[in-house]
Amino acid sequence: MTIIVTGGAGFIGSNFVYHMLKKYSDYKIACVDCLTYAGNLSTLEGALKNPNFKFYKADICDREAIDKIFEAEKPNIVVNFAAESHVDRSINDPEVFLKTNILGTQVLMDACRKYGIDRYHQVSTDEVYGDLPLDRPDLLFTEKTPIHASSPYSASKASADLLVLAYHRTYGLPVTISRCSNNYGPYHFPEKLIPLMIINALGEKPLPVYGKGENVRDWLYVSDHCEAIDLIIHKGAVGEVYNVGGHNEMANIDIVKLICKRLGKSEDLITYVADRKGHDMRYAIDPTKIHRELGWLPKTKFENGIDLTIKWYLENRKWWETIISGEYRDYYKQMYENR
Ligand code: NAD
Ligand code: TYD
Repeated sequence: MTIIVTGGAGFIGSNFVYHMLKKYSDYKIACVDCLTYAGNLSTLEGALKNPNFKFYKADICDREAIDKIFEAEKPNIVVNFAAESHVDRSINDPEVFLKTNILGTQVLMDACRKYGIDRYHQVSTDEVYGDLPLDRPDLLFTEKTPIHASSPYSASKASADLLVLAYHRTYGLPVTISRCSNNYGPYHFPEKLIPLMIINALGEKPLPVYGKGENVRDWLYVSDHCEAIDLIIHKGAVGEVYNVGGHNEMANIDIVKLICKRLGKSEDLITYVADRKGHDMRYAIDPTKIHRELGWLPKTKFENGIDLTIKWYLENRKWWETIISGEYRDYYKQMYENR
């Protein structure tokens, strides 16, 4: 069994690579990643020592490079994590989101058609459904909720999903899609809420909360997401979409306060800043389908997951200190100075 994992040098992709190498000692994993600002080869240090793991530095939009990798690897399964993933960056500069997230998906699926595969899995997001109101806790996203994307990021992911389903219907490509809620855990890039707040709090820096901090996200520990994808690629039905989430809705401000508490830092660090444009109010996943059909249930409760995450950032300072001392500094200045 050979699996191509794209975007494996990023947050969720790398966690998936480690999950698969550990669980299936007879599988070969070929990671394809062009190492954007969000991809980091040091993240894969442990995997690079494993003879079952191979790394290809390539852009998923580069048809020639992708074809060569498929020719060499003859993959049975392709799992596509590669994407531009940060909503704020998509608001500032949407173009690369459309290229990577939509056209990159097309290039990968064309290679799947050309060389033949057993499964193409698209890692999508709950953000394709748009948002839910705060005052209707009874409403959740199901797989039947209409696509209603808000940001250039979510619009690009929604477009890719439509293309994936069209390739199934038109060409019979054996596809599956997972739409997961917000992940957290090791190797999460410092621009995202949870790692940003942990790292800023450790440095006694302001904790920038957008708007009133009342927006709600449905947090899932990253290893639970990896297990869901593992199940879907082995047991999921072709042509199907699976929502993945653990019923863990929390307002941003409560997460930030919890991080302050766990790190013994003052809540005075919290600084309310201008809201994100088009900011989605609430995400909430109904995971009934994946539970019923594939038996998936999340294993990590938020109280434990957040402690594990904080511990990881405390023990892996070198990983994030290298990141935040590089081009991240310019990004941070542009995004937060005078906000
Ligand atoms: P990430 O930004 O941490 O990592 C993305 C990886 O993709 C990086 O290693 C980057 O170098 C690589 N990449 C980007 N453009 C590429 C290209 N053109 N060719 C090859 N590689 C490229 O993202 P993440 O948070 O790990 O998200 C992974 C996937 O999961 C994305 O598709 C995202 O939409 C989806 N997702 C993320 C979350 C979340 O909470 N982070 C939730 C649901 C779904
Ligand atoms: P983020 O981690 O960017 O994920 P997403 O936008 O894909 O859900 O943001 C999570 C929430 O945290 C979102 O409502 C925006 C908010 N947020 C802040 O309040 N301050 C910040 O500095 C960041 C990065 C996010």
